[in-house]
Amino acid sequence: MSKIILVTGGAGHVGSHVIEELAKDQDNKIISLDNYFNGNQANHIEGVEYRTGHTKDIDKLIPETPDIVYHLGEYARISPSITEPQKVYDMNTLGTFAVVEFCHQRQVGKLVYAASSTKFASDGQERFANPYSFTKANNVDLINCYGRWYNLPYAICYFYNAFGPRENGIGKYATLIAKFEQSYLNNEPLTVVKPGTQKRNFTYVKDLAHGMILAGEKGIGDGYTLSNQKEYSVLEIAQAFGGQIEMIEGQPGRTESGNAPDKARTELGWETTLDIMDYIKNFISSHPKK
Ligand SMILES: NC(=O)c1ccc[n+]([C@@H]2O[C@H](COP(=O)([O-])OP(=O)(O)OC[C@H]3O[C@@H](n4cnc5c(N)ncnc54)[C@H](O)[C@@H]3O)[C@@H](O)[C@H]2O)c1
Repeated sequence: MSKIILVTGGAGHVGSHVIEELAKDQDNKIISLDNYFNGNQANHIEGVEYRTGHTKDIDKLIPETPDIVYHLGEYARISPSITEPQKVYDMNTLGTFAVVEFCHQRQVGKLVYAASSTKFASDGQERFANPYSFTKANNVDLINCYGRWYNLPYAICYFYNAFGPRENGIGKYATLIAKFEQSYLNNEPLTVVKPGTQKRNFTYVKDLAHGMILAGEKGIGDGYTLSNQKEYSVLEIAQAFGGQIEMIEGQPGRTESGNAPDKARTELGWETTLDIMDYIKNFISSHPKK
């Protein structure tokens, strides 16, 4: 049956993969709402309608009533967020409140949210560590409350560090694996923030997208953690690229990921299909050093 699907942040890294998978069903009418703060037209998928705008204007920009909303359109980077709390508040707090209210007022069939796993780290204290984690955890609370107050149908997915095609390795909002790829290609040392023992569950972006769509189809409520079960230290990841490593001072962030609920595996039968170490091996063999 034909569905109207809204994806916020559809021109971003994970959002573009959500759209790519949804677009395989040609009956779906897919609309992306993105303000291009960190989105890129190069991430556009054929057949999808791209609207430019901030989520806080969603009511005006989306006259349609979608069957489902996948909400990924937020300020999405931890470290730089400490230097620009105003932007984070604007995009994540004002923007997401408008999205949640839109879903409630329009009686959207389901809101699926891309939450951050940082809220589970450091025994739950990591949610206060920076403006990004703070707003992401508050938005989880907000959506859970709308479920409780107004019976809003929703599913909350928790993402861990995404890697894979269309990841951005350049500029202020670049992410780790793509930055390492850039350094490798430029024959520069890979920079690792000391001590390097900080661990992350790097998760393949297409697996995140698939998990989010499964949660959209069958998920109910909070707790859909989408995480590779293996964690690696940032230093181990850098070493996997071979070559020189430079240890630098900086904010290493949380030491590890923390325990999170596992409804994605137990209820949805979701699993990862590609480990980061195999991805790096493939990358190196397809970009051999001369
Ligand atoms: N990538 C990860 O490892 C990771 C981990 C945990 C959670 N998440 C969450 O997943 C979502 C997607 O992350 P990503 O890595 O693809 O980030 P991204 O920056 O590549 O994508 C986010 C997109 O949303 C757009 N956007 C931001 N604020 C907006 C607003 N207010 N209105 C409209 N568009 C807006 C940006 O322009 C961008 O295209 C984010 O909500 C992020 O917090 C990502």
